[in-house]
Amino acid sequence: MRPIDLRSDTVTQPSPEMRAAMASAEVGDDVLERDPTLARLEGRVAELLGMEAALWVPSGCMGNLIALMLHLRRGDRFLAPAQAHVLGSELGTGAWLAGGMPEALAWEGGPGRPTPAQVTKAAGSPGPYYTLRTTLLCLENTHNFAGGTVTPMAEHRALVAAAKAAKLAVHLDGARLWHAAAALDLPPAALTGGVDTVQVCLSKGLGAPMGSLLAGSKALVGEGRRVRKMLGGGVRQGGVAGAAGLVALDYLPRITEDHAKTQRLAEGLRGFGIAAPMPETNILLVPVPDAMAALAALEAAGVRALPVGPAVRFIPHRDLAMADIEEALRRIEPLAPVLRGA
Ligand SMILES: Cc1ncc(COP(=O)(O)O)c(C=O)c1O
Repeated sequence: MRPIDLRSDTVTQPSPEMRAAMASAEVGDDVLERDPTLARLEGRVAELLGMEAALWVPSGCMGNLIALMLHLRRGDRFLAPAQAHVLGSELGTGAWLAGGMPEALAWEGGPGRPTPAQVTKAAGSPGPYYTLRTTLLCLENTHNFAGGTVTPMAEHRALVAAAKAAKLAVHLDGARLWHAAAALDLPPAALTGGVDTVQVCLSKGLGAPMGSLLAGSKALVGEGRRVRKMLGGGVRQGGVAGAAGLVALDYLPRITEDHAKTQRLAEGLRGFGIAAPMPETNILLVPVPDAMAALAALEAAGVRALPVGPAVRFIPHRDLAMADIEEALRRIEPLAPVLRGA
C-alpha cells in the first residue's frame, strides 16, 4: 500500500519542471561575486515581501539564527509566542549562538498569538545594569505548533507598534507567511509591515528541495551575508538551488488548494466523531487521547503523520491530490475509536 504522507509540507519532491530549471540554471560563485540566479531569486522575494533586500540561506533555521545574531547581544532577552519554532525547535541557538535569553509569551490573543499589551509588559522598562535587556520580539506567522494559525494584518501591526514603542527590534519567522497571506487573500508584503527582518521558506509547501530567504534593509542583509558565511552557509553555484526556488514561487497562487485539502480532511475526521478543529491554513492538529498509539495505528493503515504534544499533526501538500485526502479518510475511518478515544 502506498503510504499517504501527511507528516509535513516538507516531504514534497521537486517537480520535473523544477529539476529541469535546476539543471539549466545560470550560475556563478556566490561567495566570490553573486550567483545570478540566486540574485534574481533574492530580488524577487524582497519585492514580494516589500523589503529592501533579501539573502538566500539553505534553511529556515539558519535564516532565523542569522536574524537573531543580527539583533541580539549577550545579556539581551528576546520575546516570542509560546511554542515558537525559535524557542523549542532550533536547539536553543537563539540563546547559545545569538546570545539572547528567550522568554515565551502565552497565547492571550488566540492560538499562537500574544497581545500587544503582553509585549509592552514583557518588554518592561530598563532595570539595573545586572538585569537582562529586552531588545527583540520574534513573531511567527503562521504559527506552526498552534496549528498553522494566522495573525491577521491589523493584529500584526499592533504587535509591531507595541514592540517599536518599547524600542524592540522585530523579526518575523515567516516560514509559512505565504500561507497566512493566502488565507487572508493579501499579498505577503501586507504581513511584514514594520518588521526589521523576515524569514520565509521555499521548502515548506512550495516544493523546493531547500532554501529560505532572510529579508530586511540593505544594511541588515549585508551584515547577514557576513553572518551566513560565519555559519558556513555561503554556497558557491547556489543558483542550482535558487532556480528551484524561483519555480517554487509559481505555486503561491495555488496554496489555497492545500488549504481546501486540509479543510476537507478536518471535515471528514469530524464526520467520524474525531475532535478535529477547523484549520486556518495547511496544518491540522488533532488532539487525541494517546498520540503514539494513534500514530502507530495510522502508520499501519498507510497514513503518515507526526506528533505535536498531545496531538497528531497532518499537513496536506502539493504532492497530494484531493483524491489522496479522500483515500486517507477511507483508511482512517476504521481507526476512529483510537483517534477519538472511544
Ligand atoms: C515556523 C518554522 N520556522 C522555521 C522552521 C525551520 O525551517 P528549516 O527546517 O528549513 O530549517 C520551520 C520548520 O518546519 C518552521 O515550521
